[in-house]
Amino acid sequence: MDIKEAINARHSVRQYQDRPIDNELVGKLNALIEECNQQSGLHMQLILDDPDCFNSFLAHYGKFVGASNYIALVGDKDRSDLDECCGYYGQRIVLESQRMGLNTCWVAGTYSKGKCAAEIGAGEKLVCVISIGYGQTQGSERKSKPAAKVCNVKEADMPDWFKEGLDAALKAPTAINQQKFMLSLEDGEAVITAKRAPLAKIDLGIVKYQFEAASGHKCR
Ligand SMILES: Cc1cc2nc3c(=O)[nH]c(=O)nc-3n(C[C@H](O)[C@H](O)[C@H](O)COP(=O)(O)O)c2cc1C
Repeated sequence: MDIKEAINARHSVRQYQDRPIDNELVGKLNALIEECNQQSGLHMQLILDDPDCFNSFLAHYGKFVGASNYIALVGDKDRSDLDECCGYYGQRIVLESQRMGLNTCWVAGTYSKGKCAAEIGAGEKLVCVISIGYGQTQGSERKSKPAAKVCNVKEADMPDWFKEGLDAALKAPTAINQQKFMLSLEDGEAVITAKRAPLAKIDLGIVKYQFEAASGHKCR
């Protein structure tokens, strides 16, 4: 599965099989997380076999079943780009997980922050988690805003790579599917900005990663 196939196949999955992640994949995930931590300065961690984090009223309300593995997104709480950086690198891990045959769901609200087993150092903060495992299903497609609501470039003025990026941006997960971002083209460069909304900076990082992965072009 290439990265665009992973973008198309990925949907949030909240119900998981009672099956541990294969050892080989655990090794690959840990290596990827380590690489992302080195590049970003984040302190992301793969936590296995810890169902307690999803054993809360909120998690059941959020319809989580059998969730026992997650990636904790942790970083320096004084960094001004912490949320965006977690979104960007978290989505890289989400898409690579999809390519490995695993399913995921971003979770900022419906889990138990207090029961999260991640190591959170002094001066660090837990931003959110991503549940991961073998889904009971592959999830399902959801509604998306029309392109014109998130992009102010006319179709006739869009280079092909920008169209690819826009398509991927519309398929990116955002909190409560809010899709509160705006895409534009300035001097031949894609620019993505976040509108004011809860968790919008995490969404922004996610959308930027998806845009870049599909278009092959860096965005600002
Ligand atoms: C930053 C962020 C936080 C999220 N928090 C939760 C959550 O607390 N509980 C939940 O069930 N889903 C959560 N989601 C999943 C979104 O509801 C989901 O990504 C969105 O509805 C789009 O659906 P899709 O991922 O299938 O494309 C979150 C997603 C993002 C990006």
